[in-house]
Amino acid sequence: MTFKIALVGCGGMGRRHAHGYIELRKHFDTVEMAAVCDVHHDVAATVAGEIGEATGATPDIYTDFDEMIAKADLDGVAIVTSTPMHHRFAIKAMNAGLHVITEKPMGLTLKACRQMREASESTGKVVAVAENYRRDPMNRLTKALIDSGAIGTPYFALDIGVNSSDGAVMHSTVWRAKKEQAGGAPLDAGVHNADMLLYLMGGANSVFAETAINEPQRTLRPMSEVAPVLAEMYNHRKEVGYSTGDIVEQTAVDTAFGVIRFKSGAIGQLLMTDTSHGQSLGVSTISGSNGTMYRPRSRSGESPRIVRNDGREITGDALLELVPDFELDDTTSILWNGARRTSSYDMNFREIDSKILAYEYLDMVQAAESGGQPEVGPKEGMDALALAYALMESGMSGLPVTVEDVAEGKASAFQDEIDTEMGI
Ligand SMILES: NC(=O)c1ccc[n+]([C@@H]2O[C@H](COP(=O)([O-])OP(=O)(O)OC[C@H]3O[C@@H](n4cnc5c(N)ncnc54)[C@H](O)[C@@H]3O)[C@@H](O)[C@H]2O)c1
Repeated sequence: MTFKIALVGCGGMGRRHAHGYIELRKHFDTVEMAAVCDVHHDVAATVAGEIGEATGATPDIYTDFDEMIAKADLDGVAIVTSTPMHHRFAIKAMNAGLHVITEKPMGLTLKACRQMREASESTGKVVAVAENYRRDPMNRLTKALIDSGAIGTPYFALDIGVNSSDGAVMHSTVWRAKKEQAGGAPLDAGVHNADMLLYLMGGANSVFAETAINEPQRTLRPMSEVAPVLAEMYNHRKEVGYSTGDIVEQTAVDTAFGVIRFKSGAIGQLLMTDTSHGQSLGVSTISGSNGTMYRPRSRSGESPRIVRNDGREITGDALLELVPDFELDDTTSILWNGARRTSSYDMNFREIDSKILAYEYLDMVQAAESGGQPEVGPKEGMDALALAYALMESGMSGLPVTVEDVAEGKASAFQDEIDTEMGI
């Protein structure tokens, strides 16, 4: 059976989803992108045209989600709009009998996520979250190494992303500057870091954080300056009402310093800012009783590294000897050109990104067809978002919060403002 899906939201990430679908079709014929939808017809048409050229079948184009789900013959939707629409479209889709894969973050707030979870439970339809970092084969290897005890008992994790956007609006997308649209690097990007920490370290109990908006006046600059690697995927998108050079008010937190206590007893530090002028610092390590794991940048293809107390470094194929049972799953192996046990790979960003997206679609379709759960479903999607929002809640209250209280709505003052403004 071919699973018919529609792509909703054809901006930067939507175009990357199209590339993921094109990659998927090189290996599998079980998914068909039957429609694309964006409020901007020309934005949707660019993406539909690219799909048509690469696969020989051009999806139908819609500018209205409701019209699309009423008219198109679909099994599911991929929601890749800006974050405020995730829960609205997901719930409508499930109530119309469709399965859902939505971009991260799963929803605008945890309240939005709980509504999505309820809709999934009552309709029996899948909600999968397109959380990509953990699917990178190098992150699979990192997890296998940690689980096998290669660094001993994990004591603490450092996840430090200190960078400067030089006062620019993140990814040239105005919504990312806005608190009520779930903007700000520590939340919009930090949810990836949160998911990876949970994936590698297990569940989190509590968080204490200090947060700030250091740069409330941002400038809209072109993607070619802000994120050159992504620019070719974003050159078709529209930012209605704004032009390059405009000043944009940043109401979203741009700086968060958080300390996490994991359920295992280990400690974590999650620190993100894009306001660090003159210093760039990236640290992704996990230190344990028998060494430190240096995590590779997700989607770089680089090998993890373990450094022992005496300075000895284990990297590349030597790592595989520590995990004799480690193997990539069948889908990843097919997408990664037959690789089963690999300690690094050499591909460009777009190719890696596309393969991971192809994997995410196949994982969602398999869950839909088997009646099972995707790898990143409501639980995992909410856990990661609750950890990212825990930084915001603690930063606002000045007190530690438990991640569970954030997930289930008992610590929500920061998000209440968003929910009220967005009518949830
Ligand atoms: N997984 C990742 O690595 C990753 C990377 C980038 C973005 N994202 C996520 O993907 C989502 C989209 O981000 P982006 O960078 O593509 O943003 P974007 O602003 O470039 O694209 C969003 C698109 O959604 C469209 N849209 C908005 N409201 C709509 C509606 N009501 N109906 C139809 N279309 C609508 C917009 O016109 C726009 O083209 C966000 O949730 C973001 O967090 C994930």
